[in-house]
Amino acid sequence: MGSGSALDRQREIYLNGFSGNKPAIKIDVQHLEAAVEQHMSPEAFAYIVGGAGLESTIRSNRDAFEKYKIIPRMLRDVGERDIRIELFGQKLASPFLLSPIGVLEMVHREADVAVGRAASRLGIPYIFSNQASRPMEEVAAAMGNAPRWFQLYWSKSNELVSSFVKRAERCGCTAIVVTLDTTMLGWRTRDLDMAYLPFLEGKGIAQYTSDQVFQKLMDAFEPGEKPKQAITWQTIMGLVSMVNNYPGSGFLKKLRSGKPVKAVQQFINIYSNPSTTWEDLKFLREHTKLPIVLKGILHRDDARKALDFGVDGILVSNHGGRQVDGSVATLDALPAIVEAVNGKVPVLLDSGVRGGADVFKALALGAKAVCIGRPYVYGLTLAGEEGVYEVLRNFLADFELTMGLAGCKNIAEITRDTLQPGE
Ligand code: GLV
Repeated sequence: MGSGSALDRQREIYLNGFSGNKPAIKIDVQHLEAAVEQHMSPEAFAYIVGGAGLESTIRSNRDAFEKYKIIPRMLRDVGERDIRIELFGQKLASPFLLSPIGVLEMVHREADVAVGRAASRLGIPYIFSNQASRPMEEVAAAMGNAPRWFQLYWSKSNELVSSFVKRAERCGCTAIVVTLDTTMLGWRTRDLDMAYLPFLEGKGIAQYTSDQVFQKLMDAFEPGEKPKQAITWQTIMGLVSMVNNYPGSGFLKKLRSGKPVKAVQQFINIYSNPSTTWEDLKFLREHTKLPIVLKGILHRDDARKALDFGVDGILVSNHGGRQVDGSVATLDALPAIVEAVNGKVPVLLDSGVRGGADVFKALALGAKAVCIGRPYVYGLTLAGEEGVYEVLRNFLADFELTMGLAGCKNIAEITRDTLQPGE
C-alpha cells in the first residue's frame, strides 16, 4: 500500500454512498463489535469478545490508548505518504500484522483460510494460530507467497513442539511467535457462565489432528479415570460435533475408531505446559533458525531476560485482556520495554488496538509494528474473506490519514515527540 491508498479508500466509500450503498461493515470498530453480536452464537460471542475476570484489562488497554494524545504538526508536505516497514529483513507493506486467534470456525465456515486470503491481498503477515480451525498447510496454500508467521503454545510434548515448528517452516512461515501468557486458560467469566469451551467439541484443534506426532500421541493416550458425567442430549450433541470436527469422512467410521474423542482428550492433556521456564527456550532455538518472538512480555526484566536468551523479537501483549484481570495495559508497558531492549530487537504490540490512531501511538512509543486481533474476526463473522479485507483496508486508511494529518510522511517520522508528554 503506497501513497494515496487512504484517499482511494475514502473516495470509494463516499462514491458508493452517492450511489446509495453504505458500507456493510461498520467503519468504527466499536460499533462493529456491537453489530456482530446478533450474528454469532452466544457462546461464540462470549469466547471472542470476553476477557478474564471483571474484564478490567480490556478496559485498561483502551484507557491507555485514550490517555495518550497526538500533537499534529502542520505544513510538512505529506503529499506522499509511505507506511512500509522492514521486519526481520522482510519488506512489509504496512506496520500491521494479524494476531493469532483460535477457533474461527465458530464465526465462519472458511475460518483461517478466509483470513489468510484477505491478509495476503494486502501483504499483511498473518500469524497462524496454534488453535486454528484449519491446518496451517491449507491456509498457507491459500495465501500464495504472502507473508505468514506461526504462533506456538508450548505443549507438554517437545516432540509435538518441534513437529509444529517444522511444519511452519515448510509452510513458509518466517517467524515463530511463542505465546507465554496462556500456559493455563485465564478465569474467563463469560465462558464460565456459558460453561462452554469450544475445544471440547473438537473445535480449534486442527493443527493437532493434522499432525503425525499428535496422531501417535493420541494412539498412545491412556485416559485416566473418567469423570462421572450424566449423558444428556447436550452430551450427545457435543459428541456429534466432536466427530464432525475430526478430519476425514464417514461419521460412523470415525465414531467407531474412537479417534475424535481421543483427540480432544489428548489435546486437553498436553496443549500447554505451565511448568515451562526460560531454559526451555533453548530447545526451540536448537530446532529452528527462524526468528523467535516472545508474545506476552509486559515486564522490563522479562524483556532483558529475553535478550539474554537470544530471542529475536518481543510482542508486548496481555492476550487481549483474556488472561490476567487487572493487568497492566500493553501501551503502558511498552515504553519501559522499548527502553530495556534498547533497539537490539524489534518490539511489537497488540491488545486493544481499535483504530489508526492507536497504531500511531504505539509506533510513537517505540513499537515497530502492531497486531490487530478481534476486529478482523468481526469482519470475518459478517462477510468472510471480504469482511476481513474491508476491516483491514479501513485500518490501513485510518492509520495512513492519521499519520499524514499528524505531519508525518513515513513511519520514521512517528517519534516520541508526536505525542503529548507527561501522560
Ligand atoms: C486462546 O488462545 C484463547 O485466548 O482462547
